[in-house]
Amino acid sequence: MYSPVPHVLTIRPIRIAGVDLRIECLEDLEKTIDRLFEVLQAGGEPSLLEEFCPYFGVIWPSAVALAEAVAERGSIIRGSEVLEIGCGLAIPSLVATRLGARVTATDFHPLVNEFLKRNIALNRIKNLNYLRIDWRNNSKQQELSRYPWVIASDVLYERQHPELVARAIHSHLSPGGTAIIADPARPYLQPFVQEVTKLGFTHELSVRKDVFIITLRKT
Ligand SMILES: C[S@@+](CC[C@H](N)C(=O)[O-])C[C@H]1O[C@@H](n2cnc3c(N)ncnc32)[C@H](O)[C@@H]1O
Repeated sequence: MYSPVPHVLTIRPIRIAGVDLRIECLEDLEKTIDRLFEVLQAGGEPSLLEEFCPYFGVIWPSAVALAEAVAERGSIIRGSEVLEIGCGLAIPSLVATRLGARVTATDFHPLVNEFLKRNIALNRIKNLNYLRIDWRNNSKQQELSRYPWVIASDVLYERQHPELVARAIHSHLSPGGTAIIADPARPYLQPFVQEVTKLGFTHELSVRKDVFIITLRKT
């Protein structure tokens, strides 16, 4: 898999709601971004930073909070189909499979699949399938069906994200399904809530360790 810079990796143990995982991730996000920027700038392509930006590669607090929120619903998620969008290291997906769900994790970054494969092997995970999906690309998204559960963490960090993420959820959540979104109070959370309300979703808000958990339903 092409990567403009070699990534320095580490393995971090993590325990979520009694589920023990070992996660291979970037050792240092900022250093990785700095190296990537230098390489792209030297090649005259700094505009590619967005495409290659390795935000996927660290354990974000929102991913932990979402995984805990998923684990709380363990008995109803067991045996069910779950879609994670913008999954990064896919920690909520890994936890959901341990609880007995069948999960499709998706992201657009070219390296996510590589990391996920290693973490699936490290943790002997079953029932986790990966698809490279960009929520800006409608035709690619048509490969996905509808799911009774759609989950996402920390995916509202650019101005266009509220509308794109709201539309992706709208397209892929089954009627009567539930979406759970975790967000660390980023400025685009409120515009996101406005977007999903426009699309006919009801929402409940709770807070878990400084992370907002938004539960969306649509009948
Ligand atoms: C801040 S990271 C969060 C990753 C993961 N959800 C977590 O909480 O650890 C944002 C993620 O959204 C993904 N992403 C950004 N834009 C995307 C797009 N247009 N389509 C799909 N995924 C996207 C990034 O690649 C990255 O993995």
